[in-house]
Amino acid sequence: MSVVDLAYAEQGDGRPVVLLHAFPLSRVVFDEQARGLADRARVVLPDLRGFGESPAGDDEPSLDRMADDVAALLDRLGLERVVLGGLSMGGYVVMAFLRRHPERVSAVVLMDTKAGADPPAARENRLRVAEAVLEQGPRALRPMLDALLGETTRRERPDVVDRVTAWLDAARPDGVVWAQRAMADRPDSTATLAATSQPAFCVVGEEDTLSPHEEALAMAATFPREAVVHVIPRAGHLTTVEAPGPTTGALRDVLRHV
Ligand code: MLT
Repeated sequence: MSVVDLAYAEQGDGRPVVLLHAFPLSRVVFDEQARGLADRARVVLPDLRGFGESPAGDDEPSLDRMADDVAALLDRLGLERVVLGGLSMGGYVVMAFLRRHPERVSAVVLMDTKAGADPPAARENRLRVAEAVLEQGPRALRPMLDALLGETTRRERPDVVDRVTAWLDAARPDGVVWAQRAMADRPDSTATLAATSQPAFCVVGEEDTLSPHEEALAMAATFPREAVVHVIPRAGHLTTVEAPGPTTGALRDVLRHV
């Protein structure tokens, strides 16, 4: 078992906030939030292993490894406790982190994600996509686009559609395959959230079909101190990119309350 030295970017000064990106993307999904929070927070954006500029590991796929990589990055940066947020797959890593390193989290932000494990059909589909990416490369990910972006973005924001398409095409097959296997094996995290006493916040795009807002409400109600939920209008699954202003506003609200 080994830790991967994660590439990261950081911006700003103040309370440390670490944001973990979605699959199969990289830290760039939080560029706008880093800019928008920099006057009040030190925002750290890692690339999870196998994505962006971070190397892939050679361990068995498990989100626990990604969580431990993040803990090692906090050690490198001298950060004892942080506000930890994650978008979709990043949220699954946050939940793994809460199991393994709860004392290092001062507040939790779950964005467009869900607590449940994959039902069998979703799990099989992940493994099929992993095989397809091994055979055809990242273009096998193109069908994800419609699910990642909300209806409004697909209709009105060709610039965002093009940007996310380019990101999908740049995904690295080794990282994609490893992460699909890791996500397929993730446990149900409901008990983890129920045992998390830190302040918690959920952010979800109104048009998210992958992690619909009912999931956010269910997660919010699971925390012992019910989480505040921000529903972002006219955004799908990639809220940070589709509606950067309102999503940054939600994160600024989190910082006001912690
Ligand atoms: C993501 O956006 O990270 C993915 O939709 C997560 C998943 O595949 O469950």
